[in-house]
Amino acid sequence: PVAIVLLCASAYLAGSVLFAIPVCRLWKLPDPRALGSGNPGATNVYRAGGWQPALATLVLDAFKGWLPVWLGQSLGMSILVQAMIALCAVTGHMIPAFYRFKGGKGVATALGAGLALAPLTTAIMAGLWLGVMWRWRISAMASLVAITSGPLISALLEPETLPLFGLLTLLIVVRHRNNLIRLAQGRETGL
Ligand code: G3P
Repeated sequence: PVAIVLLCASAYLAGSVLFAIPVCRLWKLPDPRALGSGNPGATNVYRAGGWQPALATLVLDAFKGWLPVWLGQSLGMSILVQAMIALCAVTGHMIPAFYRFKGGKGVATALGAGLALAPLTTAIMAGLWLGVMWRWRISAMASLVAITSGPLISALLEPETLPLFGLLTLLIVVRHRNNLIRLAQGRETGL
């Protein structure tokens, strides 16, 4: 139990590191919270500085989701505990201790955690993301299609991870509420 609490707390703190911000500083770009959608995530870093810093943000934000889940796995923790760790990392990104609890939308962090816990489901979701992105070039739409497909895909392929994908869908859809409104109004800006 001590190890579980420690790992959950570490996952939350790791999640609280919004890599979009140091990456933009490193690339001498403006703060991603002050331009585009204002979201500290890979999509908005792309708007600020193109694919290189965006990819760096995506990989680092995914890594902070992947690492604590992988650690839990290596310590032989149950799937349910691993799912809790994953949710702590994603919650850290959304409500970060280091940035006055104002964070991002959790897609990249969920991708990393998902790859550790349910690689097949997550790979298919990533494929869906890429497909929607290729066709419509609207990141929020791609993220929403991918994440809302998660529960069904996991139920079919990796059912023990269904509770995780159910909760991730809830959290990530809520974080995209403004994107959803803009999508409904046909005003959502893509890349
Ligand atoms: O993952 C974030 C993406 O789904 C939307 O980002 O900056 O377009 O609101 P943004």
